[in-house]
Amino acid sequence: MNFRVILPLALILFLPVAALASVVGSKHDLRGALSYGSPQEICKVCHIPHRSATESFLIPSERIYSGGSVTIYGGTVGQPGNSSTICLSCHDGTLAPAVGTSSTDFTHSHPFSITYPVKTGMTVAAGGKVTGAYGALPLEGAAENQLECGSCHNPHERGNSGKYLRLENTNSNLCLTCHQK
Ligand code: HEC
Ligand code: HEC
Ligand code: HEC
Ligand code: HEC
Repeated sequence: MNFRVILPLALILFLPVAALASVVGSKHDLRGALSYGSPQEICKVCHIPHRSATESFLIPSERIYSGGSVTIYGGTVGQPGNSSTICLSCHDGTLAPAVGTSSTDFTHSHPFSITYPVKTGMTVAAGGKVTGAYGALPLEGAAENQLECGSCHNPHERGNSGKYLRLENTNSNLCLTCHQK
């Protein structure tokens, strides 16, 4: 094959892969879309290298959820933690699709910002991860035992479904990693 054939072929084969595995060009590429940060720096929308508002994930103050206590499925009320504070700062229905029925009511969504339980029917967590047959999902926080948005989602890779999932949920593989049914 000559170069004129190989180059377009290489573009067709590799460009979609690159697009799935990076923030660049995905819906989370928000360079220039917000009133802070820098139009050149893709990471700065969600992380800053110095003087961050929290220690975890170097979160800029603009990305700390400020809606107060939330109600989640199961009735637990509390302040969201860890990666959930970043996600909920945008996913409130104004800047990005909402996950709650209001900015504080998440009773119709899968629970988050909870301690992963030691319980029959749940895969045992070890070393800050829940490792099942299809892959491993991270738990967060200082004790590495908190289930957050970032346990099921990877904000850096939109994946085949476009839902930024850590494991695609084909045949409910994501669900079955934690729930043994
Ligand atoms: C839309 C928001 C968002 C953007 C943009 C973003 N991140 Fe993140 N990042 C997060 C969140 C939320 C977490 C915590 C959950 C997790 O681990 O995925 C995180 C975690 C991390 C971590 C620690 C955990 C790990 O995966 O190793 C690193 C390192 C990181 N990001 C680097 C980057 C870099 C580099 C960029 C720019 C290319 C970037 N991030 C862009 C939201 C974002
Ligand atoms: C800086 C703002 C911002 C942050 C932080 C952020 N997102 Fe997003 N997210 C967006 C925007 C904007 C879109 C695109 C919305 C659209 O096109 O309608 C999006 C799209 C998505 C989508 C795809 C929605 C769809 O149905 O197409 C998912 C899933 C998602 N985000 C999950 C997350 C999760 C989980 C986190 C935290 C780990 C997070 N996002 C953090 C702004 C953000
Ligand atoms: C237990 C796993 C899990 C947790 C925790 C979780 N999500 Fe999701 N999320 C999913 C799955 C699976 C989908 C895809 C649903 C579908 O395709 O029907 C999804 C879809 C989404 C979407 C796309 C809109 C939609 O309804 O399809 C957004 C936005 C989103 N999640 C944000 C979040 C945010 C923000 C958090 C934390 C507050 C969070 N998710 C916590 C599993 C989870
Ligand atoms: C990262 C691990 C994890 C993943 C992935 C996950 N879950 Fe869960 N799920 C939990 C935890 C932890 C609870 C709270 C269990 C408790 O405290 O009893 C829960 C609770 C639930 C409940 C409420 C159960 C009850 O006893 O009230 C349902 C239903 C549920 N999950 C369904 C799903 C579905 C469907 C998926 C896939 C889209 C999914 N989960 C993915 C960890 C997970």
